[in-house]
Order: sequence, then structure tokens, then C-alpha cells
Amino acid sequence: MGNVLGTVQYLTSFYRMFAPNPDEDFAECNNGVPCRAVTGNKAVQSIMYDFDRFQKEEFTFSGLIAPEELTDGVCLSALSNGKAHEKYKGFLMDVISKGYGELPSCTARSVLSNVSQWGKGPVDDFEFKLLVVMCEAILPTIYGQSAFDVKDIETYVDGITSGQPRSRILQVLLSWRSLDAAHRAKASVVEKIQTSERYQQLMDLAKSHGMGEHEATMQLLISISLNGVCGSGANLVTVFACLNTLSEEDREELREEALAAMRKHGGLTREALQEMPKVESLVLEALRFSPSPGTSSNVIAVRPATCPYTTQKGEQKEAEIKEGEVVFMFSYWALRDPTVFDKADEFVWRRFLGPEGKARRENHIIFNGRLVDSPSVNNHMCPGKDVAISALKGIIAILNTFYGWELEEAPYWTGTKAARIGKPDNEMKIKSFWLQRPEDLKEIFPSYLDDM
Ligand code: HEM
Repeated sequence: MGNVLGTVQYLTSFYRMFAPNPDEDFAECNNGVPCRAVTGNKAVQSIMYDFDRFQKEEFTFSGLIAPEELTDGVCLSALSNGKAHEKYKGFLMDVISKGYGELPSCTARSVLSNVSQWGKGPVDDFEFKLLVVMCEAILPTIYGQSAFDVKDIETYVDGITSGQPRSRILQVLLSWRSLDAAHRAKASVVEKIQTSERYQQLMDLAKSHGMGEHEATMQLLISISLNGVCGSGANLVTVFACLNTLSEEDREELREEALAAMRKHGGLTREALQEMPKVESLVLEALRFSPSPGTSSNVIAVRPATCPYTTQKGEQKEAEIKEGEVVFMFSYWALRDPTVFDKADEFVWRRFLGPEGKARRENHIIFNGRLVDSPSVNNHMCPGKDVAISALKGIIAILNTFYGWELEEAPYWTGTKAARIGKPDNEMKIKSFWLQRPEDLKEIFPSYLDDM
């Protein structure tokens, strides 16, 4: 199949284009570029950690190349290799860990202050409102006080990730597209970073990692906006949608757990979050069921590789990968691999509870590495893993505990909508929204009760 046809098929059938073959974990295909699609859970894990033979394709998201004018030639950490990656990742890991302690209080403040402005009737543009909640939970932990416009962050990320296709024909067909809005958004976000409360501290930290001001600012702009904010915002919509598939009894069970934890610890604290295993299991199952991203970024074989694997039928096989071949790891399929997850196509919210649930975390690879592993400068695992899980838990716990809502339509997923990046096929719309537990809210967060 050619690159153009491959791109079109990818955009129209998305994950379904790569539905795993039970006999083959490294299928040859084309999704805009000739590649190997890796779908088995263990096969994906083996590539993810093999940095000697498989390296990131710099500046390249799946089949698209990030436009240089939006990156200023600075490759985002996730797509860089070797010494550059060590430097960028080390800086970002420090930045993220310094703010982690503030996350629960920032999360509570963000949800409660945003919800107080939503009103009681229909909530317009609800998915964007969830993105704002995520943004205002995470960004203050990084930049301190700042005045980001979330629309600008979203516009910039759209611009950088919908870059130039590799196919020449598609480049010509899409050459009319303007990046002006993304340019303006970039200038605005950079300005907000530079005028944020902690900018000087961030630049001092960057210096200690051998980075100059421009390089560090671009790394914050790209990695925090894309990986941190927009990635987590998309997953928040998914987790919220999955919550809506639960029975009223199950939601009450989650409510009781979260309420007891927040009551015991006087609000949303780190300790309270630790005492919410059921909410955590719901979050992890949603990230397994419909992950964003559902593909880890592509890697390229830097030398010929023989990759042994076991098929779904239990046969031992080997895939011969040539030097220069592009390999796509499909976390979507790896997380639905029936050899590691029972009832893999079903949403089972208790899946990650108890000792068995703990063992299942060894195969949960949404963060580009096993949940049981830790991010480091020598791997490509997400350094925002704990931040993301805590923020998702905190936001969902508060919404489910104190508020009620009616959706316009129940969520559904077909796995064919590339543009929805893991969110349900249908946009989440709220018909009505209300405060459900005023007495509990008053007890735990008294200052927010009167706002709604
Ligand atoms: C549910 C939310 C999140 C998911 C599913 C997620 C997932 C991922 C994945 C799959 C990668 C690897 C990307 C690649 O190799 O191309 C990654 C990398 C990264 N993520 Fe996350 N992430 C999330 C939230 C966050 C947050 C909240 C932050 C920051 C506060 C963050 C910061 C980063 C950074 C800096 C990288 C680059 C890592 C590297 O250079 O090795 N992520 N994330």
C-alpha cells in the first residue's frame, strides 16, 4: 500500500487498521509510511526498552513531522535520543517533581473554582472545560502564579502535532494550511511562561542541567503543553466518560471511599489520594480501555534486529527488522491483549484492585513503560505518570462525590476516530449539572459552597 492510501486509511479506520493478527505481532503495514505495527503486549514492552536497537525519530509524531517554526529547531524530550534526551528529561523530571507536593491542593482548587462557574443548567463546551480544569491543576505546580490562556495552549499543540505528512502528494495537497493561529498561540504561551512567578527559578534549574534559556523555555512550552496538559486533558474526558458507564451502586461505592478519605484527612491531600484505591482502579482501567496516546511515538531500527515473540496462540516466532525500518508500538492493542488482560474489550473498573490488580500493572504500559517501573533519563517513560494519576483521581473523586449531572448521550467507542485520541466517539455534552451533596461539600471545602 502507498503512503497516501496508508494515511487515508489510518485517518479513517485508525486502530481498526491494525487489528492484531493472532499469528503475527510485527505486521508489515503502511499508515503514511511503510512500517511494522507492533500490537502484542510483551512485544511492545520489548521494543519500548530496547534503546540500543530502536531510537526515536526526532521531531516526528506518527506519520507527521512537527513544523520547525513551531519548535524553533528544539526537539521535544519525548522524541529526542542520547545525550540531548538525558539533558531535557533530567530538567523536566526535576521541574515536575518540585511541584508534586502542591498537586492535591491545586487540583481541589481547580475543580471547585471551575465548577462554581459552570452553573446548574447545560454546560457548554464541556470537554474544553475539563481541559481547563486539568490545566489549572497542573500548571500552577510548575510555574507558580501565571495567566495561561488554555485556548492558546490547545491551538499551539494542535499546530505542532498536525504537522507535515511524509507523503509528498499529501504535502502538496495540504500546503494551503496556515500555521498563523499556532504561531500566535506559541508567542502568547511563551510570554506567559516568561512572566510566570517561577520563571527565574526554572531558568536557574535549566542552567544546572546545562541548558540555555531558549532551549529550556521551548522544552517547557512543548513538553508541558503537549505531554502534560493536553495529553492529560484528553484522558480526563475518557475517565469521566468511563465513570458514566458505571451503575449508580458502583458510583456510590466510589463516592463513599473518596468521601471517607477526604473527611479523614481534611480535604484532598496526598494521604487522602492514597486511600482511594477504587478511584485509582477506575482511572487505570480507563487509561487501559481507551488510552491517549494509543500509539507510543514511532521508533526506527538503528541496526538490524531479530525480535523473538510469542503469538496469541502461544507459538514462538521471530521478526526480522531491517535497519531503517520504522516501528509503531500500539499501546491501544497492547492494552487489549487477551493474553495479559481477561475480558480485554470490556471496561472492568475493579481490574486494578488487590494483589491481582497489582500484578496487572506490570502490563499496563500507557505511560510508555510498565506502571511498576520508574521514569529515568535513560528510558522514555513518562515523568508525569504520578502527577497524571493523582490529578485524574482527585478531579474524578471531587466531581463524583459532590456533584451530579445528566449527559446528553451515553459515551461509546469504536476505536476508529483518530481525531478523538482515545476520547469516546461522541463528544461529552452535559444536559444539566448540579450540586448533589451540599452538606458534605460544606464540611470538607467550606469556602466553595456558596459559589455555585
Ligand atoms: C494521563 C496522562 C498522561 C499520559 C497517558 C502520558 C503518556 C506519556 C507517553 C506515552 C509518553 C512517551 C511519549 C513518546 O515516547 O513519544 C510520555 C512522555 C512524557 N510525558 Fe507524559 N503522559 C501523561 C501525563 C503527563 C504529565 C501530567 C506530564 C507533566 C507534568 C507529562 C510529561 C511527559 C514528558 C516530559 C514526557 C517526555 C519523556 C521523555 O522525554 O522521555 N506527561 N507521556
